[in-house]
Amino acid sequence: MMKKIGILGGGQLGRMLLQVAANYPVMTSIMEKDADCPSATLCHHFVLGDITNYDDVLQFGEGLDAITIEIENVNIDALYALEAKGCAIYPKPDALKTIKNKILQKQFYHHHQIPSPAFHVVNSLEELNNHVSFLPAVQKLATGGYDGKGVQVIRKSDDLHLGFNAPSVLEKMVAIEKELAITVAIGNDGTAAVYPPVEMVFDQSLNLLDYQICPANISENILWKAEALALAVAKNLKSPGIFAVEMFTDKDNNVWVNETAPRVHNSGHHTIEAHYSSQFDMLWRVILGYPLGNTQKIMSSVMVNLVGSEGYTGTAVYEGLNEVLSIPNAYVHLYGKKETKPGRKMGHATVMSDDRQELLHQANKIKHTLFVKGDKKI
Ligand SMILES: Nc1ncnc2c1ncn2[C@@H]1O[C@H](COP(=O)(O)OP(=O)(O)O)[C@@H](O)[C@H]1O
Ligand SMILES: [Mg+2]
Repeated sequence: MMKKIGILGGGQLGRMLLQVAANYPVMTSIMEKDADCPSATLCHHFVLGDITNYDDVLQFGEGLDAITIEIENVNIDALYALEAKGCAIYPKPDALKTIKNKILQKQFYHHHQIPSPAFHVVNSLEELNNHVSFLPAVQKLATGGYDGKGVQVIRKSDDLHLGFNAPSVLEKMVAIEKELAITVAIGNDGTAAVYPPVEMVFDQSLNLLDYQICPANISENILWKAEALALAVAKNLKSPGIFAVEMFTDKDNNVWVNETAPRVHNSGHHTIEAHYSSQFDMLWRVILGYPLGNTQKIMSSVMVNLVGSEGYTGTAVYEGLNEVLSIPNAYVHLYGKKETKPGRKMGHATVMSDDRQELLHQANKIKHTLFVKGDKKI
């Protein structure tokens, strides 16, 4: 019998899941409130609805064998209700609840003795003022933040007014040496598979992932620590699914867990071409109850996010596709978003090569060649 699986959210992550779903005996449903979203045309059933609304999610889940998510901001109460009726949820609502709220997430790390930057819970701007001696720090909204929105650096007391007047965590600022991410897959029987670490380089101004290299250039010592931490996070969440664990290293060879996504994630896009089983393939194996796939790399890789260029909105216009597609082992993924906006994730490109210099060179070339502009200037 074909299993019926629903995905909450119809963005690029849903789209890339659907691209792989075509390989398996599965009927897919997507719920999203925008009928023009990247996933709308690739699923078997598209349901127009609000993934944060209890009734919409409950109704969507009726008759489905399992549900997964492509974003944390979904109605968890409805997922609990569906779970009680026998619908499998990936990740389990308990794990999602822990991750979705950064206060609970930080408390989870603390409870399980997983090293993560020291923090205070702060409920308002007024409370923030009590922590001047804790600065420099990074304030993060408990809920609703994504892609760097909802994260504010507070270096000194003069910056306190920049803070959020809302429930949040105030984290000790780490002198970051490298940012790493490790994806872990957990099967229904608890078996785990760990992907090689990726090293991320960020755009300072946009606070958005700029490019990432796999495998990360780190010592064996750091590798062991990072793998152990990623596994500890995933196992302690006590849920099957895919978990992307973001970490920092510092100059003293410490590894800190920054945050976890309980789902397929931007940091795993290179696995589509560069690894035997991609993060998307892996999630279907988990949900459909097949053996986990091979996480090893076929080749080293670099992944570049294609974000909307500054100064443009309107219908997306792609520049430089021919040049980039002429690079050996370069793959372009356009997400099919109709409208571009400065900084919006519109696609990504992956290049494979076992020469690290070549990867860096090609990443830079792509950043200077491939642009997503729009038909309106702003
Ligand atoms: N404690 C910290 N110390 C230093 N830099 C941090 C800290 N926390 C976050 N950052 C920086 O801010 C970025 C975004 O923070 P993150 O918690 O990952 O939020 P988001 O949900 O936007 O990805 C991180 O990738 C890192 O570069
Ligand atoms: Mg992050």
